[in-house]
Amino acid sequence: MDTFIILLLNSNFFICMDWMKGTFMMGEFKILEMETLAPEIKRLVVSAPLIAERAQVGQFIIVRVDEKGERFPLTLVDWNPAEGSITLVFLEVGVSTKKLGTLKVGDQILDLVGPLGNPAEIERYGEAVVIGGGVGIAAMYPRVKALKKAGNQVTSIIGAKTSNLLIYEREIKGWSDELHVSTDDGSRGFKGFTSNVLGELLNRGRRFNFVFAVGPVLMMRAVTEVTRPYGIRTVASLNPIMVDGTGMCGACRVTVGGKTKFTCVDGPEFDAHLVDFAELIARLRTYIGEEQQALRILEAKGLGGG
Ligand code: FAD
Ligand code: FES
Ligand code: MG
Repeated sequence: MDTFIILLLNSNFFICMDWMKGTFMMGEFKILEMETLAPEIKRLVVSAPLIAERAQVGQFIIVRVDEKGERFPLTLVDWNPAEGSITLVFLEVGVSTKKLGTLKVGDQILDLVGPLGNPAEIERYGEAVVIGGGVGIAAMYPRVKALKKAGNQVTSIIGAKTSNLLIYEREIKGWSDELHVSTDDGSRGFKGFTSNVLGELLNRGRRFNFVFAVGPVLMMRAVTEVTRPYGIRTVASLNPIMVDGTGMCGACRVTVGGKTKFTCVDGPEFDAHLVDFAELIARLRTYIGEEQQALRILEAKGLGGG
């Protein structure tokens, strides 16, 4: 059993230690870079030396922007232990991500906890496919890199609604044996979804040993249904609502293979063929009314208004 010790020193400084896994994190998170990658998608480099030292592929952090802020998870896209920094990429969808997007180089993030979640299993599968949709394209980058370094033949498939939302293409291409691009509107690459691209490759007789998907739940579910008849091992990085990120609140409950799992401590990656995606979709919509109302209030006040 994991034992957590959380020391709340004051409202903006705390230490949390997962005694068994050695997860350790503490305050002062200064923004080193903030870059707009695409409309409403930002790349943030923040000083977090202890997280940078321990980060592994597949893990995430939990952020709280300011004292009134809620806690929300973001995937570790990159980390630099020498510089003591981590890279996050986020889509400004609601109050918390929009508030994060208003911060500038030199500003501080109030709380940042991590690395959380289990590291990804990186094996030598042979022919591996990595699929990312929307902001999930950035989240797939460390996976592509790690699979390539482990000696796999890596086919990457990235997709977005339209061409100007395609991010991290150059970085992913650099570590892939093959890169396929799709857009919903056909403005770049294949017209359609990433799951259609994978389906086409399989129809043409390509065979893969492993598929990893990260992005919108509907995309991950579609990829799962494409690989199911072929029996290809498929892993998805799930994105339920999270609050504490340490297995205590139950917010991130998902059903996998008929069993209850907590994504933050049992995942975030699971055998996609066993995931109850319908439940995940329903649970993600639980607070949609409140989220939209909170966004309306924030926009009425002006984004800097807190
Ligand atoms: P809101 O308007 O509050 O919410 C918009 C939608 O986001 C909601 O309807 C709900 O479906 C989801 N959401 C809301 N609150 C949370 C929460 N506390 N936890 C998770 N989902 C929530 N997004 C990125 O842009 N980049 C990432 O790298 C990234 N990595 C993630 C990694 C994990 C393990 C998980 C679980 C989620 C990740 N997300 C990522 C999703 C991100 O956490 C949500 O987009 C964010 O919390 C939305 O908050 P909001 O207040 O801006 O929007
Ligand atoms: Fe609370 Fe996972 S986020 S149990
Ligand atoms: Mg929110």
